[in-house]
Amino acid sequence: MKIGIDKIDFYTPPQYLDLVDLAHARQVDPNKYLIGIGQKKMAVAHLDQDIVAMAANAAEKILTPADKQALGLVIVATESGVDQSKAAALFVQQVLQLTTNLRAIEIKEACYGATAGLQMAKDFVQCHPDKKALVVASDIARYGLNSGGEVTQGAGAVAMIVSVDPHILALEDQSIYQSQSTGDFWRPNYSTEAFARGKYSEEVYLQMFSDIWQQASSQKMTQTEQLQALLFHIPFSKMGRKGLKTLEDKLATADYQRLLQRFEQSIIYGQDVGNIYTGSLYLSLLSLLENDSTLQVGDRIGLFSYGSGSVAELFFGQLQPDFKKYLTPLVHQELLKQRKQLTLVEYENIFRQKLVTDGSTQKLSQSDCNAPHYLTKIQDHERFYK
Ligand code: COA
Repeated sequence: MKIGIDKIDFYTPPQYLDLVDLAHARQVDPNKYLIGIGQKKMAVAHLDQDIVAMAANAAEKILTPADKQALGLVIVATESGVDQSKAAALFVQQVLQLTTNLRAIEIKEACYGATAGLQMAKDFVQCHPDKKALVVASDIARYGLNSGGEVTQGAGAVAMIVSVDPHILALEDQSIYQSQSTGDFWRPNYSTEAFARGKYSEEVYLQMFSDIWQQASSQKMTQTEQLQALLFHIPFSKMGRKGLKTLEDKLATADYQRLLQRFEQSIIYGQDVGNIYTGSLYLSLLSLLENDSTLQVGDRIGLFSYGSGSVAELFFGQLQPDFKKYLTPLVHQELLKQRKQLTLVEYENIFRQKLVTDGSTQKLSQSDCNAPHYLTKIQDHERFYK
């Protein structure tokens, strides 16, 4: 039985900061950001586009009434959660008016969360082949003004439907995963910004990729002549590029060049959106599928997922007949093109805005997000959405 990603889409707020402007403001050579980090723009979210609103806006685009009816599981993976107890998936269920006959939960393990969600969804569908699962990765990456990680911020959500006979990518059962407690990146409950040991984080990412690749190779899962593309978790594109580079001496030149060429297509969306934590790997998948015209039905794709703290997994999937029919590249190009460019002052002002935490009522006027779902108010410590 084939199980995998039946549909996939994404949402990102309609405003961004150009990283050349950020470089000038922080007195950094723009090439450090453009080449050294490998990013061009970062999406900036207004307060009304929190992770619930973004998740609903991404998911709405792929859910037909029949899909809604078939859902038995809704997972929101995030590390920018809005509540310590109630799952973001329950807000999404309400906002999208989904059936109540489903499990709605939230998963957290830094940027790995959506992969945990995808694997859980696959297992769920294996047991309940008549049902579908919705997995949404939604995050706002915040490191702080003037921080080392500021250039690797961003905001957005990727939504996927998992089902039998998927239209896009059938997932293989076998994968290699690894967990180990590290202090490379974390966000304590009292902080709205993440803390990171950036260089150490890169080391752990690369070490786990290397260990996992070795294990996968020894189990004959990585024969590169059968691997048409290799995708990476991309907090910033240079990170994935470094991961791929570790294979340069291990692979035949033609295989490495093919993976490199496809890698370039996989970072196009992420370079303009920025880091979306849980969704980054899946935005890479969408970017590859919508920007590379040479991919063929049956092509095998590897996906390397990494979440700080740290959990990593390498898994594989095969492109399904008609996968191209289920993609909307023009819609996504337009979504990115139509965004408003913020000045640095506008970006800093948005960054400093905060929601009330004292129980008072805060009504939000819808920002020009031009999206159906947004946070309308906070009242008595509760969030309300349209
Ligand atoms: N032109 C081109 N490249 C330049 C440059 C210039 N003018 N100036 C610097 N660079 C390059 C550096 O050589 C370096 O390249 P390398 O990584 O290949 O060695 C890169 O730009 C980054 O510069 P560097 O000064 O080494 O790093 P930094 O102290 O600014 O930190 C991060 C970069 C990514 C570690 C930091 O942004 C961070 O902490 N991010 C958050 C953590 C994170 O995302 N971790 C990822 C794991 S999930």
